[in-house]
Amino acid sequence: MPHDVIIALDFENRDKTLAFLDRFSGKKPFVKIGMELFYAEGPAIVREIKQRGHRIFLDLKLHDIPNTVKKAMRVLSQLDVDMTNLHAAGTVAMMEAAKEGLTRPDGTCATLLAVTQLTSTDETRMREELLIDATMPQTVAHYARNAQKAGLGGVVCSPLEAALVKEACGPDFLTVTPGIRFADSAADDQARVMTPAKARANGSDCIVVGRPITAAADPVASWQRCVDEFLG
Ligand code: C5P
Repeated sequence: MPHDVIIALDFENRDKTLAFLDRFSGKKPFVKIGMELFYAEGPAIVREIKQRGHRIFLDLKLHDIPNTVKKAMRVLSQLDVDMTNLHAAGTVAMMEAAKEGLTRPDGTCATLLAVTQLTSTDETRMREELLIDATMPQTVAHYARNAQKAGLGGVVCSPLEAALVKEACGPDFLTVTPGIRFADSAADDQARVMTPAKARANGSDCIVVGRPITAAADPVASWQRCVDEFLG
């Protein structure tokens, strides 16, 4: 998987999404479709964007019993997305079942990533609500190793944790990192942010960028700036 910038298409419907993509005339950025757009428009929006020639990260973060996740992943495998994900908290057995379900009859498989701990969860909540006494770095590294054990390709994590994941799982285990901001842009609701260049230096293979591109006056120029800063 080459280094890339993935635009988070956090739009409420098809019309707004396609109007945004139309601005890229001819260019085909890698995009992420999340729960909001998928629940609003269903699998048809995935097929349509794929048909337009974009690579797609389908960010649905599955978490259920292994059999249910396996069957859901089997359905998703037919959408021909490039990347999808689940929660590592679902256990190694669930991740193995997911990988099995996502593998197509011809043996090919989309890149399957695990969410370690959401960046909205902090150590206090882990300790008091989830009864996890380990530190955040210990938990992230442990969940990443579980994902690797289950045969997954990498994790979604904070760019602050990318170096730690590479240390725990080796250079080929992918790190896909949201929480990216330009040095001169607002952090919005992201508590811990990094610039594209800093994320790359810290071990991010792909960065996921939403509002710095989608809410920009000139989204294409912002995307290009992001690509230039990330790829260096
Ligand atoms: O607009 P912004 O750049 O903050 O968007 C980041 C994207 O990455 C959103 O789609 C958000 O849901 C997603 N994400 C995140 N933090 C995580 C996991 C996913 O910001 N830990």
